[in-house]
Amino acid sequence: MLLSHSPEGLTTEERAALATAYSAALAYRTGLPEAPARPRVSLDDAVARFRTRLDEEGAPGPQVITEITTRAEGALHAMAAPTFFGYVLGGSHPVGVAADALVSAWGQNAGSSVETPAISGMERAVCDWLIELFGLPEGTGAGLVTGASVANFCGVLAARNALLAAQGWDVEQDGLIGAPAVPVLIGAEAHSAVSAALRYAGLGAGRAVRVATDSEGRIEVAAFAEALAACEAPPLVILQAGQINTGAFDRFAELIPLVKARDGWVHVDGAFGLWAAAVPDLAGRCAGVQQADSWAVDLHKGLSAPFDAGVVLVRERAALVRAMSARGAYLPAENAQWEPSDSTPELSRRARGVPSYAILRHLGRAGVRDLILRHHRLACRAAARLAQEPGMQVVNEIAFNQVAVRCGEGAAGDRLTREVLAAVQARGKVYPSHGQWQGREIIRISFSGYAMQAEHADLVAEEIATAWRAIF
Ligand SMILES: Cc1ncc(COP(=O)(O)O)c(C=O)c1O
Repeated sequence: MLLSHSPEGLTTEERAALATAYSAALAYRTGLPEAPARPRVSLDDAVARFRTRLDEEGAPGPQVITEITTRAEGALHAMAAPTFFGYVLGGSHPVGVAADALVSAWGQNAGSSVETPAISGMERAVCDWLIELFGLPEGTGAGLVTGASVANFCGVLAARNALLAAQGWDVEQDGLIGAPAVPVLIGAEAHSAVSAALRYAGLGAGRAVRVATDSEGRIEVAAFAEALAACEAPPLVILQAGQINTGAFDRFAELIPLVKARDGWVHVDGAFGLWAAAVPDLAGRCAGVQQADSWAVDLHKGLSAPFDAGVVLVRERAALVRAMSARGAYLPAENAQWEPSDSTPELSRRARGVPSYAILRHLGRAGVRDLILRHHRLACRAAARLAQEPGMQVVNEIAFNQVAVRCGEGAAGDRLTREVLAAVQARGKVYPSHGQWQGREIIRISFSGYAMQAEHADLVAEEIATAWRAIF
């Protein structure tokens, strides 16, 4: 295939490739309601379909796009459908998907504000809107990253550097070897992304003190106070807004002042739960969260943005910039230009804020509130239905959008729960996922998707109840 250049900007073939992809995207999203909830093709078969010989000669663009869509048939998961309850994933809102197409078409490197003012303008708006929606302090620093794992990592880096600086250690210059210890406290039911962030940051997941939690996965305040008193230096404390199985929230208003009294840093993993702060009816769950020093949140979860959409927020923007900026010890002067690459680990990157800008503009404040509240109400609705089913237990309080269900009791219940989940997934109408809660198997149902309505909550409850009745 010859590389071509057309005076019209696009060759006929390139135009056809774009049009083919556009039609395929429309066809995929239009067909989603009828699509099976899970792939019908095994991983091995999918690899065999795609892992062909790379030919010496290339293929025409439209043919390649058609080939990709054909080969992917039956091997995609209907994660964008309102029947996907497997993880907190959102569902890629079509307005965000449309804006995402522009991101690729525009080909902007979002790392530099000087060359890409439109992108920086939109990303700045997204960050400011989020800070406002969550009620965080004005002037909070924000970096648009790939997701909450990276957002947690960035928050932990900012915390680590600031806490070490307070002990007179310049980790940016001198690294971690020989550095004073930074005590770390996390909840016993923290997400695995928190341990990963501690590992990446060189703080060691194994060194973190795991504080006892209650039946919902919330940190026990008395145990926390005891662990805090044992810290020999100002600690890094990682709290949680939204436990992955129960949806529970740590008691920020009680815990954060205790940490502040020890000059510690509080980071909040709010991957999906921080969205509760944007909704008056749910904001009580996040009471006090604004007193933290840094937060991680996902836009693909609460906002249903297409993937590659997380945010790290740091109260003291300079601390984020010190930890992230590729310009070393650069510190922004007051009113210095907001430079995207100063707040993320990347220099070159896609304009990942644009789809979220489009969704926020499309939904408005009321739309965001309705969306998040709807997730909660649907979770309550499905839980109420499942709780009526003899022999089945909803094991969590429905704090937010997560429902954890068990079938039967004890060790036999583990087997039955697995069997019910396998039967539901095999039927392919809905896709809840597996989880483990307090040593026991659960079916986890996550409500997070712009298109989810009451009928979908009823459907997932009915599918699980029907499978259970067939076994029970
Ligand atoms: C509480 C929590 N923290 C962190 C993560 C990781 O987020 P991501 O998958 O966007 O990296 C998740 C993902 O489900 C989560 O639920």
